[in-house]
Amino acid sequence: MGKVHVFDHPLIQHKVALMRKTDTVTKEFRELATEVAMLMGFEATRNLELEEVEIETPLCKTKVNMLKGEDIAIVPILRAGLGFVDGMLALVPNAKVGHIGLYRDPETHEPVEYYCKLPVDIEKRKIFVVDPMLATGGSAVAAIDFIKQRGGKDIVFMCLIAAPEGIEVLQNAHPDVDIYIAAKDERLNEHAYIIPGLGDAGDRLYGTK
Ligand code: PRP
Ligand code: URA
Repeated sequence: MGKVHVFDHPLIQHKVALMRKTDTVTKEFRELATEVAMLMGFEATRNLELEEVEIETPLCKTKVNMLKGEDIAIVPILRAGLGFVDGMLALVPNAKVGHIGLYRDPETHEPVEYYCKLPVDIEKRKIFVVDPMLATGGSAVAAIDFIKQRGGKDIVFMCLIAAPEGIEVLQNAHPDVDIYIAAKDERLNEHAYIIPGLGDAGDRLYGTK
């Protein structure tokens, strides 16, 4: 079963609390999303492999640890996942970015695919699937299904807020995927929104409501 990592770092907790507030405006919400993505990404990349290489400082030759050139892909689930991309790219600027377009049908809450474009060598990459919200889990499961169908193997999922229902669905569907979350909330309401949550993440990021 994939591990669930819940971040208890005070900076992450504080910033997520600000994002939840109704009076946090779009500009501020977007900035906070980038900052939280960086803070979470810092920890989620902890297991990247290092290799010892010889370099020259101005004084002498020495051996240092550097990233093993592990190839990374960041895959936001559109649209709200885009809010995590800049923060992750600040940490791993050479990462490739794939996009998966999914929206939840307002009646059934089932994910509907409208776009999928991944790096051609996705099977070789460590893949960070990013989306602020894990509610029913339908979107995350569908996105990871697409990635696996195209050869992706080494996948982690990162989100801000998760409902217990979504975590369970994702773990059952993809037990090989570790899940990184900033907050585990109480439940879903009758419209499959996370309670207390932060509302509709896409609308809050892009000011569309
Ligand atoms: C939101 C969110 C997730 C999904 C989570 O996207 O960004 O992708 O809902 O819900 P689930 O776990 O029940 O599938 P939404 O469908 O609102 O689309 P948007 O990002 O384009 O606003
Ligand atoms: N999608 C969101 O943006 N928010 C929720 O609470 C649930 C799904």
